[in-house]
Amino acid sequence: MRKGILERYQEFLPLTEKTPLITLFEGETPLIRAEKLSEELELDLYLKWEGANPTGSFKDRGMVVAIAKAKEEGSRAVMCASTGNTSASAAAYAAKMGLKCYVIVPHQHIALGKMSQAVMYGAEVLAIQGNFDQALAIVREITEEYPITLVNSVNPYRIEGQKTAAFEVCEQLGEAPDILAIPVGNAGNISAYWKGFVEFRQAGKSGKLPQMWGFEAEGAAAIVRGEPILQPETIATAIRIGNPASWRTAVQAAQESGGAIDSVTDEEILEAYRKLARLEGVFCEPASAASVAGAIKMRAQGKWPSGLKVVCVLTGNGLKDPTTALESVEVKPKVIPCEKKAVLDVIKAEEGL
Ligand code: F0G
Repeated sequence: MRKGILERYQEFLPLTEKTPLITLFEGETPLIRAEKLSEELELDLYLKWEGANPTGSFKDRGMVVAIAKAKEEGSRAVMCASTGNTSASAAAYAAKMGLKCYVIVPHQHIALGKMSQAVMYGAEVLAIQGNFDQALAIVREITEEYPITLVNSVNPYRIEGQKTAAFEVCEQLGEAPDILAIPVGNAGNISAYWKGFVEFRQAGKSGKLPQMWGFEAEGAAAIVRGEPILQPETIATAIRIGNPASWRTAVQAAQESGGAIDSVTDEEILEAYRKLARLEGVFCEPASAASVAGAIKMRAQGKWPSGLKVVCVLTGNGLKDPTTALESVEVKPKVIPCEKKAVLDVIKAEEGL
């Protein structure tokens, strides 16, 4: 029987006999070999498909731990700031556990699917006229002053859960890859993966450690620039963050592993986003494609030698952001009369018949 991550990785998680072992069957996500991109980039390239989680993003791994611990500790309500995925995940697990959920999102900068999820799962959704960093500052203050549990990735239980993705990568490949490439927003996930790889090696379950390469969106690349960005901008709304909370641990992960934090432009993100769907059959959200955009950029700049085994983390499902999908393709759906002939005319023109 399939297990959720609380049961599966119990020995690596801060659980007690009082922790409720809830699950929506997060984790155990596919590691897909990217055949065409491997050939094109002269890499042995794999995609860690986190869009296959129950709410469509990697957040579920950390949220199941954070929500179970909140319940164990007697909390009745949880709260987060979010660019969308954290709110969807918090709302789902809070519903499952019977906790009240408050989420603060940046007005008009959250993808449609994510907003639909949060409201469907029954969260109280507040859209502020500000950005993620401002939302997080408000949430931190309120959760310090009132008995509401903060479930952003500054809650250490989130990182504990998210590190399980690194365990799975090692299990799926037989050992850690040469390089782990990952999008960076608030910088929790790169910190979590590094913690996971280190712990798995310490437990004797993986022989080596990967280099950690994180990629921010250029308009929100605070770590790359070395200073917070007051008004971050990128089409990849999930990582539209100008002052990452886990900045220090992300830099540490890159440095200790011999990797780096770099950035990719919106154009590079969109190019990788379309390529993943068309060449590999994997429809991720724009922010997720930053990892593959980074791999393409590093190969073009000669920073990565050919032949390396690389895992790109695809953090979220493309269905969450249908608006960007439809806007990013040149060939739009055609509206035609309801006739076999009209359909055939298009096929004949395409096929040259
Ligand atoms: N990819 C996606 C799809 C995300 O939703 C996020 C973060 C990231 C990458 C970056 O991960 O913050 O750990 O560096 N989304 C958060 C949210 C901020 O509110 O959903 P990170």
